[in-house]
Amino acid sequence: PAQALIFDLDGVLTDTAQTHYRAWKRMADEEGLPFDQQVNEQLKGVDRMSSLEIILRHAGRTLSAEQKQALAERKNGYYVEAIAEVTPKDLFPGVARVLEQARARGLKLGLASASRNAAALLDRLGIAGRFDYIADAARISRAKPAPDIFLDVAAALGVAPARCIGIEDAAAGVAAIKSAGMAAIGIGDATTLAQADACLADIAAFDVDAFVSP
Ligand code: G6P
Ligand code: MG
Repeated sequence: PAQALIFDLDGVLTDTAQTHYRAWKRMADEEGLPFDQQVNEQLKGVDRMSSLEIILRHAGRTLSAEQKQALAERKNGYYVEAIAEVTPKDLFPGVARVLEQARARGLKLGLASASRNAAALLDRLGIAGRFDYIADAARISRAKPAPDIFLDVAAALGVAPARCIGIEDAAAGVAAIKSAGMAAIGIGDATTLAQADACLADIAAFDVDAFVSP
């Protein structure tokens, strides 16, 4: 049976996948870079600089390292400004219940977000203390879809990957979970997340007891 749940953050526990999108879109509009929700799908779960590279590639624009740094920082400024308004009310429905169900079953809880803003966001959401371990994205060498961040969390929790369930809204994230040798629950569109072992419309549909047999 599973011994740990390892959650992604943006788009799984709260709607910040959209907040990231709006911050990128604001920067892209200012720079005249074509960018839409469809391109954004490729950005989900992907780290900050790689996200910018995808936007630039799609727009056919080449920039210097300094220019890229400036655009990535500008986007992050917009994002940080937006999450300053986040409160526990912004948790997706069902998150508190899922975390309680998991705790009651004695499961370890980990967080595997590629975001450098994850710790601050968890604080704003009031759930930082619920996790046994929160990965520091800055210390993970290979980004999702590489398994590194999920393996880092499993090791810190002291649970074998085969006994972990990863929960992700991004195709790159589901790929990372599977490549780490874990079971994957996809949150969102079953076609986009076809690699997941099970797919749910949202976190509210996650019944921990149904997935974790006693
Ligand atoms: C998560 C999100 C991505 C975001 C990345 C980096 O993986 O799904 O959309 O680009 O984190 O976030 P950061 O806050 O470090 O820019
Ligand atoms: Mg996500």
